[in-house]
Amino acid sequence: MNEVIKTIKSRRSVRKYQSRQIPRADVEQIIEAGLWAPSARNTQPWHLTVVRGQENIAPITAALKEAVARMPENPYRALVGGAGYTVNFGAPTIVIVSGHPDITPMVQADCGQLIQNMALAAHSMGIGSCWVNQLGSACNEPGFRKFLSGLGVPEGYFIHGTCALGYPEGDYPKAPLRKENLVNWVE
Ligand SMILES: Cc1cc2nc3c(=O)[nH]c(=O)nc-3n(C[C@H](O)[C@H](O)[C@H](O)COP(=O)(O)O)c2cc1C
Repeated sequence: MNEVIKTIKSRRSVRKYQSRQIPRADVEQIIEAGLWAPSARNTQPWHLTVVRGQENIAPITAALKEAVARMPENPYRALVGGAGYTVNFGAPTIVIVSGHPDITPMVQADCGQLIQNMALAAHSMGIGSCWVNQLGSACNEPGFRKFLSGLGVPEGYFIHGTCALGYPEGDYPKAPLRKENLVNWVE
């Protein structure tokens, strides 16, 4: 099996990280891989906000928890309100991926491609990653939007995902089973 396919198949979502920081140069390479993702009509409709260190990430979890508490309809209320919830699973670096809906109706798909490129690049470098979904659910809540603006998330950009990055702690997650009979061929 070639190395790319091996990397694709062996990547797992990592939810437990060592506290030691990953080098900034490695994050730059991971981001570079993300920015080379395809996008609909090459619109590259994304913006990335890199946040490093627990001292900068913990306030994001805290602000998200406060925002979700103000949102009775938020689908993640039970999860985010839980005592153990964090936006990073302890990872020392996160990348918040946002995109503007007016640039292309395919913005969510494009941002997904970017995040997967980053996850695969990270895995190929021995760095774990996990897509964390909850920030988007609160990103238009006025108080949280103000907080996000303070981080540099551009006005009008919706958060499509957050990519946690760090060295995996403990056993590497086992591969979940693949569903069967999801493909039909016409030839
Ligand atoms: C769009 C998307 C959103 C996700 N959101 C979360 C999340 O909020 N929290 C989390 O722990 N994992 C999240 N994941 C990771 C999935 O749970 C994970 O990919 C799936 O269980 C398969 O495991 P694997 O990535 O190890 O193959 C998300 C994945 C995707 C593609």
